[in-house]
Amino acid sequence: MARHILGALGVAAVAVVALLAFAYRPAFAPIAPPAAAGFPPELVAAGETLAGAGNCINCHTAPGGPANAGGKVTHTRVGRFYSPNLTPDAETGIGNWSQAAFTRALREGVSRDGRHLFPVFPYPHYTQLTDADIEALYAYFMTRPPVKAPGRPNTVLFPLDIRALQAVWKALFFKPGPYRPDPGHDTRWNRGAYLAEAVAACADCHTDRNGVGAEQVGHPYAGAMIDGWYATSLDISPSPARWTEDEFFAFLRHGESPPHGVALGPMRAVVRGLARLPDDDLRAMATYFISLNRPSGRAPQPDIARALSPVPPATDVQKRGAALYLESCASCHGAPGQPPSVAHSPIGLSEALWNPYRPYNLLLAMLDGVDGHDGLPGAMPAFRRKFSNDDLIAIADYLRASYTTLPQWGLLEESTTQAARNDPLSLR
Ligand code: HEC
Ligand code: HEC
Ligand code: HEC
Repeated sequence: MARHILGALGVAAVAVVALLAFAYRPAFAPIAPPAAAGFPPELVAAGETLAGAGNCINCHTAPGGPANAGGKVTHTRVGRFYSPNLTPDAETGIGNWSQAAFTRALREGVSRDGRHLFPVFPYPHYTQLTDADIEALYAYFMTRPPVKAPGRPNTVLFPLDIRALQAVWKALFFKPGPYRPDPGHDTRWNRGAYLAEAVAACADCHTDRNGVGAEQVGHPYAGAMIDGWYATSLDISPSPARWTEDEFFAFLRHGESPPHGVALGPMRAVVRGLARLPDDDLRAMATYFISLNRPSGRAPQPDIARALSPVPPATDVQKRGAALYLESCASCHGAPGQPPSVAHSPIGLSEALWNPYRPYNLLLAMLDGVDGHDGLPGAMPAFRRKFSNDDLIAIADYLRASYTTLPQWGLLEESTTQAARNDPLSLR
């Protein structure tokens, strides 16, 4: 018996040693923080554009906190991750990181000291960046004012918090290396694909993940949950209006395209981050995504007709929802069948109503409103205090039944309770 236990322990010890050897990555020696004046201003400016478009600044800045000093939380199925400090503070930031250490972090998801990083940091996308773009990002971050801000520990469940196991994850799911242009497509398409895949990491939110957090390679852009919102599918749009290149471009440039509505929730920060990219780059991304967009199989014309001229409510709950709509929403979104007044796009066209799976985007828009800051259109009050869960359910039920041709959402009541509780982790 004792011998068996010793034998098992021996095997376990060998496995641990093998894992540690497999996972080992050397540390890069710390350097003295480089002088900001040593970086060419054009390189710094290019880096700033990329850091915005790459969502780095947004994800490495806590709400109300100093820029790039970290502390922003990302909720995942396995726990909460806090972004680290990317300012050039030598002690708590990346001040003593060489260009080589920074490049390895983006290309391989390994920290300066050799620790594996979790893929909540979208390095599986940034690995595709060109050397020139990584150098520009480094120049941008190293020329910011240093901020002393120690990292917050992640709250990840054991044993998933073991960093050495990330080496195994990488062996299974990670393809390192720069973007390779697809010779089957022209330069513009490839530029768009590069920006979407390597820089902006759009799939980080729009592609669903498997049980251990890897994007489902077979179904890119099929839609996924992110922080309680549903990042709409981009391969088959759920909305009744088909995307055109011009409208996709307008959505990325202005956060709005009238036949589709406005960017909501986390998508608003994405649009803000793209602000410094030139029009040509956003048009290239539109070209890329339109090429992925397949016809949905639903007949588009009848859907649009329904979205613009809704049918009357049928059930008692829907009738109550319709009354609440007239009282609280119609002043801006228009009476049923009428064009909107304050809002820009007809509510029946919003993907929030046509979402195939869950009513979360509609519920969260009602609960928290839509902010109109930073040049993005839209300003809608939050109804969290005004409406009971039953009110929210009635309105959602009514809008779905009268303005769309889709079946009622399953789990509408449960989803409403979860959305109103404001706990992103409970939303699935
Ligand atoms: C979705 C949020 C998110 C985005 C977007 C993001 N990061 Fe991060 N980043 C993180 C998190 C979280 C970590 C820490 C992961 C961990 O604990 O293993 C991290 C880690 C890092 C590290 C390692 C820091 C260290 O101390 O080990 C670097 C460097 C980094 N990010 C740079 C970037 C750059 C450059 C971009 C944009 C191109 C970017 N990040 C975009 C969330 C993000
Ligand atoms: C004070 C005006 C106002 C009121 C009242 C209002 N909204 Fe809005 N709502 C807006 C604006 C502005 C937007 C941003 C979209 C736009 O401009 O087209 C918006 C956006 C939305 C969206 C997202 C649309 C999209 O483009 O995807 C939904 C869904 C929505 N509202 C539902 C409601 C519901 C339901 C009510 C009533 C409970 C309501 N709104 C009340 C002004 C209002
Ligand atoms: C941080 C998460 C996140 C990232 C990164 C992200 N999105 Fe989104 N996106 C969302 C969410 C959530 C929605 C749903 C709310 C809405 O309609 O705006 C959305 C909606 C959209 C829509 C509207 C879809 C529709 O049918 O109405 C488009 C288009 C879009 N995203 C394109 C992109 C592109 C292109 C990128 C990369 C440049 C990107 N997104 C990156 C979260 C994200």
